[in-house]
Amino acid sequence: PSYLPLKGKKITLTAGATREAIDPVRYLTNHSSGKMGYAIAKEAQKLGAEVTLISTSSLTNPENVNVVKIASADEMLLAVDSVFQETDIFIFAAAVADYRPLEVATQKIKKEEGVDKMVIELTKNPDIAATIGAKKQSSQFLVGFALETNNELENAQGKLKKKNLDMIVLNSLQEKGAGFGHDTNKISIIDSNKKTDFELKSKTEVAKDILKTIIDKLELRKNP
Ligand code: C5P
Repeated sequence: PSYLPLKGKKITLTAGATREAIDPVRYLTNHSSGKMGYAIAKEAQKLGAEVTLISTSSLTNPENVNVVKIASADEMLLAVDSVFQETDIFIFAAAVADYRPLEVATQKIKKEEGVDKMVIELTKNPDIAATIGAKKQSSQFLVGFALETNNELENAQGKLKKKNLDMIVLNSLQEKGAGFGHDTNKISIIDSNKKTDFELKSKTEVAKDILKTIIDKLELRKNP
């Protein structure tokens, strides 16, 4: 018999970079590929979970995963909210734009003769992880990601508290081969009282480490 510690658990993941429209043909975004979120979705499904992947990425859909495609942070929040009640474990792996254009032009913005500068006013996006954290139920488990360039531990623990998360996966930017677009990653896992460092590994192996940590914390290990 296979090892299915996540059987009966519903996991909702966010993945990819949000796209924030400027006009009908342009948008603001970032370099996140979505690979880490997709790797977790795939491994979680293999461990028996019922997985919903709320994604902006065009990567191939993982098998037997319910994929919901959206573009902006607002759409991502709506999609996450619509499965809030039934979700046991949330994993917020998306790189959500902090700000979006305040107004979306209905027509393509034209370049104007003699106009060499333009300003696009931005407004703050909703924080999806924090919104869900604020209404988290005691049975729900929330995992966030953090990418810090300084005071890593302190900032990650600050986020854990502020967003009411149970665990934060800290991506090390210092490490060659870690983070955006790569197939490898080097992480530390942080909860309220400890930090565990992992080696540089493939995103598939990193996904397994993250899920194993969740399984241990939730005491879901039934057979080894
Ligand atoms: O605050 P910061 O962006 O560093 O936090 C990162 C964590 O919060 C990630 O898990 C990310 O997916 C989530 N987040 C979010 N909505 C935002 C910003 C971040 O869900 N608007």
